[in-house]
Amino acid sequence: MAAIIDGKKISAEIKEEVKQKMAVLAAKNKTVTLAVIQVGNDPASSVYVGNKKKACEYVGFCSLSYELPENTPQEELLSLVRELNERKDVDGILVQLPLPSHISEDKVIQAISPDKDVDGFHIQNAGRLFVGESGFVPCTPAGIIELLKRSGIEICGRECVVVGRSNIVGKPMAALLLQENGTVTICHSRTKNLTEVTKRADILVVAVGKPKFITADYVKEGAVVIDVGIHRNAQNKLCGDVDFDSVFPRASAITPVPGGVGPMTIAMLMSNCLRSAEQK
Ligand code: GUN
Repeated sequence: MAAIIDGKKISAEIKEEVKQKMAVLAAKNKTVTLAVIQVGNDPASSVYVGNKKKACEYVGFCSLSYELPENTPQEELLSLVRELNERKDVDGILVQLPLPSHISEDKVIQAISPDKDVDGFHIQNAGRLFVGESGFVPCTPAGIIELLKRSGIEICGRECVVVGRSNIVGKPMAALLLQENGTVTICHSRTKNLTEVTKRADILVVAVGKPKFITADYVKEGAVVIDVGIHRNAQNKLCGDVDFDSVFPRASAITPVPGGVGPMTIAMLMSNCLRSAEQK
C-alpha cells in the first residue's frame, strides 16, 4: 500500500517560504509583479489563471491581469508581450496556454524576454536546462522534483521512466531527473511494449493526457508513481492519467488527483517570480 504524496501540504510550505522572502523584499520597498495574459475564456484556463492570481496575492506579489478576447490578432498579443518586456516594474510574464488556433504559441513564447519567462518555456531557458546552466525551469516538472525531494525519495541511480514527451512536462522532466543522476527513459505514443518499459521504473512520471491510462499492470511493486494528468469525468469528478485505485496497492508512494502535482505548479511559479525579481 502506497504513501500518499501530499502536494497540497508541500506546495503550502513552498508558498510560505516565498511569502517570507517577499516580506524581506517588501521591507526594502521592493515589489514583485507577475503579468498574466489569457486569450479567450476557456473555462479550465480561467480556473488556472484565477488560482495563479490568488497565489500572487497570498505571497504578497502584485499581479497584472490581461483578459483578451478570443479573436485578438496575434500582432496585438505580441505588442502587449513586448510592452511588458520593457516595463521595469514587471518581473514575470505568463501567457496561459492553449492559445486560440489563429495564434502561434511558439511565436508568442519566443517573444517573451527569457529573463521574465517564469514558465520556463522560452527556447533559451529550455536550452539552459538541457546543458545544465541556470535558467527558469518549467513549473510542473520543477514541482515534481520538489515533491520527490521533500518526500525523501532518492532519485540518484534509480530507474526513472517518463511517459509523455511534451515540451512543457515530459522533456524538461527527463532533463531534471537526469540532472539528479537518475537513469532516465522517455516513453511516448510510438513506444513498443510500453508496460515492459514502465515496469522497470522505480520512479514513474505519467503525463499522457488520457484518463486512468496507467493501471497496476504498468507498475512495478514498490514504485513511486507521479500523476501529472487532470481530467473531469461525466460525474464531474476529477481523475488523473493513473488509475489510482488499481495502482495504489502496488506503489510505495503515489500522488493523488487532485492535491498532488497540480498545486506544485503554482507554488513553483511563485518561486520563479521571486527569483526573477531577485535577479533584476
Ligand atoms: N497551460 C497548461 N499548463 C500551463 C502552464 O504551466 N503555463 C502556461 N502558461 N499555460 C499552461
